[in-house]
Amino acid sequence: MPAELSPIDTAKFTAARRAVDFVQDGMKLGLGTGSTAAWMVRCLAERVREEGLRVQGVPTSTRTAELARDLGIPVVTLDEAKWLDLTIDGADEFDADFNLIKGGGAALLQEKIVATASDRMIVIADAAKEVAQLGAFPLPVEVIPFGWQSTKLLIEETLVGMDVLDRQVTLRMSGDAPLLTDERNYILDLHLKRIGEPRQLAMTLNQIAGVVENGLFIDICDMVVVGHGDGRVTVRDLQAGLAEDGRVNLDDARNIFADLGE
Ligand code: 5RP
Repeated sequence: MPAELSPIDTAKFTAARRAVDFVQDGMKLGLGTGSTAAWMVRCLAERVREEGLRVQGVPTSTRTAELARDLGIPVVTLDEAKWLDLTIDGADEFDADFNLIKGGGAALLQEKIVATASDRMIVIADAAKEVAQLGAFPLPVEVIPFGWQSTKLLIEETLVGMDVLDRQVTLRMSGDAPLLTDERNYILDLHLKRIGEPRQLAMTLNQIAGVVENGLFIDICDMVVVGHGDGRVTVRDLQAGLAEDGRVNLDDARNIFADLGE
């Protein structure tokens, strides 16, 4: 581990560390994808190792599955688990209603399936992910490779009638080739700058043939845990309308890395 975590990594660790407090013995858990979710997997592994916490994890990507297995978290498929108690995942943006943009890490399809098969979803994020209105982050849309250019045209046409500020659509690349998701699909990134009606856009995009799923998570997230670069953390519960401030011991990050031999 580097001598000092950057403020952004500290914020991610802080959110992740606080969120795993909500994990109880025996839970079936959705394990998100991304750098913040990777912190959560490390913090969860620490509880499994230190407290003997028994959990089953359903990863939302091959990357997360590998990390969870490496750190000793028992991993099962969603078909084996069928229904989950809790999913903890990161986000690219969240608004005041806890609507999200996800998919920056190209895992939105499995992430949405896993989150919607859970009693509760907790999003872990640094404070920069909070927005007044969604859309500054390009909205990822997973499409099947067959006829993707026609699908792109249909999306562009559809966007003309939508309450958005910009309408650029780009194919996500990995080097010289289109990036392939875990389901071997492509990602189109919709550069919209501002999304006026996220619910309407989410439903409309999913009507287009060739679209598998979009990265708008509407009415899925129940709680947001926001971490800050100095160890402060805020837990916001949508239903309870509560916000609770706290602080995470930053030495824990160092201990976790030491214990993992990283
Ligand atoms: C992956 C995601 C991630 O949760 C999102 O991109 C946030 O990632 P990070 O925690 O690295 O900022 O949706 O598909």
